[in-house]
Amino acid sequence: MKPFEIAKGIYAVGVRDWNIRDFHGYSTHLGTSYNAFLIMDDKITLVDTVKKEFADELIDNIATLIDPKKIDYVVSCHTEMDHSGGLPRVMHRIGEDKPLFCSKLGYKNHSRHFPQKWNYRPVENMEELNIGKRTLVFLETRMVHWPDSMFVYLKNEKILFSSDGFGQHYAGQELFDDEVGDAIMPHAKKYFANILLLYSPLILKLIDQVTGLGLEIDMICPDHGIIWRKDPGKIINAYVQWSRQVPEKKALVIYDTMWHSTEKMANAIAAGIAETGARVRPLSLRKWHRSDVMTEVLDAKAIVVGSPTLNNGLFPTVSDFLTYMKGLKPQNKIGAAFGSYGWSGEAVKLIKKELETMKFEMLNEALRIQYVPEKEALETCRRFGEKIGQAINASD
Ligand code: FEO
Repeated sequence: MKPFEIAKGIYAVGVRDWNIRDFHGYSTHLGTSYNAFLIMDDKITLVDTVKKEFADELIDNIATLIDPKKIDYVVSCHTEMDHSGGLPRVMHRIGEDKPLFCSKLGYKNHSRHFPQKWNYRPVENMEELNIGKRTLVFLETRMVHWPDSMFVYLKNEKILFSSDGFGQHYAGQELFDDEVGDAIMPHAKKYFANILLLYSPLILKLIDQVTGLGLEIDMICPDHGIIWRKDPGKIINAYVQWSRQVPEKKALVIYDTMWHSTEKMANAIAAGIAETGARVRPLSLRKWHRSDVMTEVLDAKAIVVGSPTLNNGLFPTVSDFLTYMKGLKPQNKIGAAFGSYGWSGEAVKLIKKELETMKFEMLNEALRIQYVPEKEALETCRRFGEKIGQAINASD
């Protein structure tokens, strides 16, 4: 994609990765973008680079505007290699001695990723850098979502370059929120649920801090997806809501199955929940990618997990999902476990233990049915679901 002038003298020069479908275990059905921004001022400044494989495309984009050697400063907001992998090519092309600004922890982390002894300029939180007519302010955003992460605020145009924050894995022709409309929100929600959820308390603190500074924000430029120019407040408010993790009256019945017995149980449990008026969605882990399930988890109250017992343990997809969900630390959930088994039947106990470790409030005794559930067993499952639905409805 050609560079685009997002504000006078400021260009989006990043790239689209149309075909990526797996971003370190996150399903990217519509690809993603690695955004980078070029600010034309007395000191021409590049904010962030791209994934290594796209470095030449970034340089070609810049070359349509200026000779890349004319770049004076590079800012690297985050060490993760989808944004820093292009640095060796970029620095080689523009001059290895050009100042490279990053946070103090960014300096440490870059040094552990790249052997080059670049001209690092570690910055303090709230340090300012004058580049001519404009001033950049560096805002440390530790653990949102790496120790080194930082935002850059451009005072004059009131633009926040927000690194991964407020991003979405979305590749399209569109560049701005007003070109996509509300259709972008599910992508932003999925990004939050799968990348940022565990840092919710820090995000709330960060938003308070930025609000406290009284920074006016006219545009938010994340490193993935579209730019928020029409209504940056919309994504900030969504982050506040998602970070608070106030659940909706909604249940998920997440399961896998070997010979459809656990599936029959899942459907009967879901029917019992639905009878109470609570919303419910059965999700087969064979059909739903873990990252799409996690998006549903974000605003669900009840997480009901089912697995058959395989070789004295959990079915692998269930184990995978529980590990993934545990790392993202969802809060304010109620949980329940169920499953069909043949002889030993350990899976249900293992699910219960995992959900307890995640501090879910456990409902009901875990439900195990041997072999194939018949009418009576399915009625037990329905009642099991009904109790879950009642608990959801009784919750705040
Ligand atoms: Fe988009 Fe944390 O890298």
